[in-house]
Amino acid sequence: MRDELLSPEPTPDEAELEVGEMRTGTNIIGEEGGLRPRHLDDFVGQRELKEHLGIILEAARRREQAVDHLLFAGPPGLGKTTLAGIVAAELQVALHITSGPALDRAGDLAAILTRLGEGDVLFIDEIHRLSRNIEEVLYPAMEDFQLDIVLGKGPAARSIRLDLPRFTLVGATTRTGLITGPLRDRFGLVARLDYYDADELQSIVSRAAGILGIGIDDGGASEIARRARGTPRIANRLLRRVRDFAEVRGDGQIDEATANEGLAVFGVDDLGLDKVDRAVLSNLCQKFGGGPVGLGTLAISIGEAEETVEDVYEPFLIQQGLLMRTPRGRVATPAAWAHLGLIAPASAPLTADPSRGLFER
Ligand SMILES: Nc1ncnc2c1ncn2[C@@H]1O[C@H](COP(=O)(O)OP(=O)(O)OP(=O)(O)O)[C@@H](O)[C@H]1O
Ligand SMILES: [Mg+2]
Repeated sequence: MRDELLSPEPTPDEAELEVGEMRTGTNIIGEEGGLRPRHLDDFVGQRELKEHLGIILEAARRREQAVDHLLFAGPPGLGKTTLAGIVAAELQVALHITSGPALDRAGDLAAILTRLGEGDVLFIDEIHRLSRNIEEVLYPAMEDFQLDIVLGKGPAARSIRLDLPRFTLVGATTRTGLITGPLRDRFGLVARLDYYDADELQSIVSRAAGILGIGIDDGGASEIARRARGTPRIANRLLRRVRDFAEVRGDGQIDEATANEGLAVFGVDDLGLDKVDRAVLSNLCQKFGGGPVGLGTLAISIGEAEETVEDVYEPFLIQQGLLMRTPRGRVATPAAWAHLGLIAPASAPLTADPSRGLFER
């Protein structure tokens, strides 16, 4: 299992704070809640997505119309829920929050839809987990703002049609591949969030430190940013742990050295890899000679499900240039060998000799 510190998933208290704040619409309930940007201008990074969203929101404001339905896709902790909150705040409409797994009967969705006000935002998290029959209720609601309700059962059943206010559905998913075609097609914008670069994460850390009243210099912020796996949620969490460290072992101020020591104490390595990431790489290098090795074999060797390795661990390792997916399996890059402090044998694929192709062995 992933160290909690580096997991992109919210810890239970973070999740509660994140949702609590969105629901009440007030700022600062607890610390994490207050860190969530409320306006598009405060949202750091995702430049292209921000530009598109800015135009869409402004156009809707001018026409005084509800915004088209929006789908945000991307790994956990990158800001999908935050963006849903921003859409509602920018349009000054109410935000209603639910999630795919929470809607198991068509009646649940009907109840939510009939409570919506004109222009409101309905946020469905994990929308790829909606059941088929709920999706069918959603289609006419999204397209024609109509709700078909079936009353009664059997031959006596009859269906009535209700008009719904024009609302905006904002969906979030960590797995675009699992969204059915017809659902996907009903969104006016499908936007992908990418991992943040170090500069962006540094601004996120500095901004959060400002809100929390933590003294941190650029060196400290950059050190935390570099090890946050491209993920704002992790950056904010590391900041809070380093603050704890600085308060207990130092004078409460965070500079590069304090950040370094604090992160080392909490077991975050130089690239922000945790135990499982290192296990993926070291198994790949030490047990399988650097690969290529199939996903299934690699997953079994570290005791994780294939899906978890593929969705949770690999994307960051690939993004960092430590691992490659090839048609023949997973391969460790020279940077992986170097990071583990190992010397790649001459027989390893992708060793420094560029004249050796990956597939000629
Ligand atoms: N662009 C950003 N600028 C500043 N802070 C951000 C940004 N994106 C996310 N955050 C911070 O990261 C935390 C996690 O973001 P959020 O909950 O929106 O992620 P998510 O994509 O919805 O994750 P999940 O898939 O787990 O639901 C938020 O509390 C927020 O403070
Ligand atoms: Mg979320």
